[in-house]
Amino acid sequence: MKYFIAIILLVSTEIINAQTNSSDFLAKPYLQIGKKNSPQSIQLLWHAAPSGDVWLAEYKNGDESEWKKSLDLTFSTVAVGSVAPFNVYSTSFTSLKPGTTFQYRVSKNGKVVFNSEGKSLKSADQVYRVVISGDMGAGTNTSKKIAYEIYNAKPDMVAVAGDIVYNRGLLSEYKTKFWPVYNKDDADTSGAPLMRSIPFVAAVGNHDALGRDLNAFPEALAYYYFWDQPLNGPNGKEGGAFVPALIGTDANKKAFYDAAGEKYPRMTNFSFDQGNAHWTVIDSNPYVDWNDSTLRDWLTKDLATAANATWRFVLYHHPGFNSSRAHYEQQQMRLIAPILEKGKVDIVFAGHVHNYQRTYPITFVPDNLGSQLVAGANNIKTGKVVNGRWTLDKNFDGKRKTKPNGVIYITTGAGGQGLYNPEQTTDKDSWQKFTTTFESRVHSFTVMDVNGKTLTLSQVDINGKEVDRIKITK
Ligand SMILES: [Fe+2]
Repeated sequence: MKYFIAIILLVSTEIINAQTNSSDFLAKPYLQIGKKNSPQSIQLLWHAAPSGDVWLAEYKNGDESEWKKSLDLTFSTVAVGSVAPFNVYSTSFTSLKPGTTFQYRVSKNGKVVFNSEGKSLKSADQVYRVVISGDMGAGTNTSKKIAYEIYNAKPDMVAVAGDIVYNRGLLSEYKTKFWPVYNKDDADTSGAPLMRSIPFVAAVGNHDALGRDLNAFPEALAYYYFWDQPLNGPNGKEGGAFVPALIGTDANKKAFYDAAGEKYPRMTNFSFDQGNAHWTVIDSNPYVDWNDSTLRDWLTKDLATAANATWRFVLYHHPGFNSSRAHYEQQQMRLIAPILEKGKVDIVFAGHVHNYQRTYPITFVPDNLGSQLVAGANNIKTGKVVNGRWTLDKNFDGKRKTKPNGVIYITTGAGGQGLYNPEQTTDKDSWQKFTTTFESRVHSFTVMDVNGKTLTLSQVDINGKEVDRIKITK
C-alpha cells in the first residue's frame, strides 16, 4: 500500500511541477521540423536563463511505457543588444512512430518542469492536415482568435507564409506577440498550445528579414536563432545575390553571428518532406537576385529530386499573382514561375497581401526573362513589375474538374494583420484575369487535407466558417 502511495505522490509532484514552474522558461518548449527530414524525428527547443542547471528531455510513443532520452541536447547563447543573455536549447526525438501522438517531458535538475503531447510527422502513406497562414504574429485580438481556430482545426503541421512576427522580427516581439499566442498553456480566444504539440515551419517575410541594421535594432533577425529548419539550401554570401549586407558594429555583428550559428544565412531557402508531399520554402524578399544561378539551379534541382513525391508545395511570402491594389507592383516571384511549372509544383502558398486569393491554374511565360531577371533600381526596397503572358486553365473548377493544368497560387495573408482592399471582394472587375476567388472582408486561414492522390483545400474564416473549397486529384 505504501508503495502505491509513493507512486501517486511522485506522479502528483511531477504534475504540480509541470504546472507551477513556468518561470523556468523564457520560452516554453516548442516543436520544429529540424534538419533530419524524417517522420521519425522532431526537434524540441526551449529558452532559459544561462546557469549550471542540468536539463533533460525525454519522450515515449503512445504505446510505450519507458521514457527515452532525447539525443544531442545542445544550446546556443543569445546575448544581443541590452537583452539579458539566455540560452536556446535544442534536442532531437529520433525514434518516433510516424503519424502518432507521443508524450514528452523536460526536467531541470531532476525535476519535471514541463510535459506535453506532440504529434510526429507523417509518413508517405498517411493522411494529413496542414494549416497555412501568413502575416500572423501581429499580437492583435484577430491573430489570437485565428490561433484558436487553427488549434480547433487540429492540423498536423502549420506552415507560416512569412511575416512571422511584427514589426521588425525582433526578439522582444517574439516575446510579446508570438510565444504567448501560439504556445499558450491553454486554448481560448487569446491563443492556444499549438507549437508545443505540432511543428510550425516558416518562410521569412519582409518583416522578418528586411531589417539588417543591427546598430538600430540589435534584436533583429531573431528568426535565425529561434527557428530550427533544414539547412539544405544554398549558403549565400553576405552582400551577395540573395543575402543582404548586415549593418552594424563588429560587436553587434558578432553577437548576432554567435546567436544564429550555422543557421545564418542558410536557413531561408530549404526543403523537406511531410507525408507524401515535398515542400520547398523560399525567401521571396526583393533583395533576392533571381539572375543569380545558384538559387535558380538549387530550386530546379530540388524540385527535380522531388519528382517521386505525390505532391509538391512551395511556400514563400510575396505573391507573384495578386489582384489587390496593395502591393500589386511586387511581382518578383513571377520570375520563377517557369521553374515551378517545370518542377510540377501543385500549389504555391504566399502571404504578404492581407486577404485570401486563389488563382486559376496558371502557366506563365515572362517576357524577355533574361533582361527581367536583372534587379531594377527600386528592387531592393519593394519588388518589381514582371510582364509576361499567362495561360489559365478555366476548365478546372475544383468540384467536377479536379485535375489542374498549371500551378495554383494561393494568397493566404489574412492571419492577423489589418485586411487589404476589402472593397475589391465584391468588385470582380478590379480582379486580375488570373484570379478566381478573392475574399478580404474577413480574416481567414487555409486548411489542406491530403489523402493519397486527393487533396482538399478549404479557406476557413475567423468564425470557423468555410469561405472557399476546392478538390484536386492526381
Ligand atoms: Fe509582408
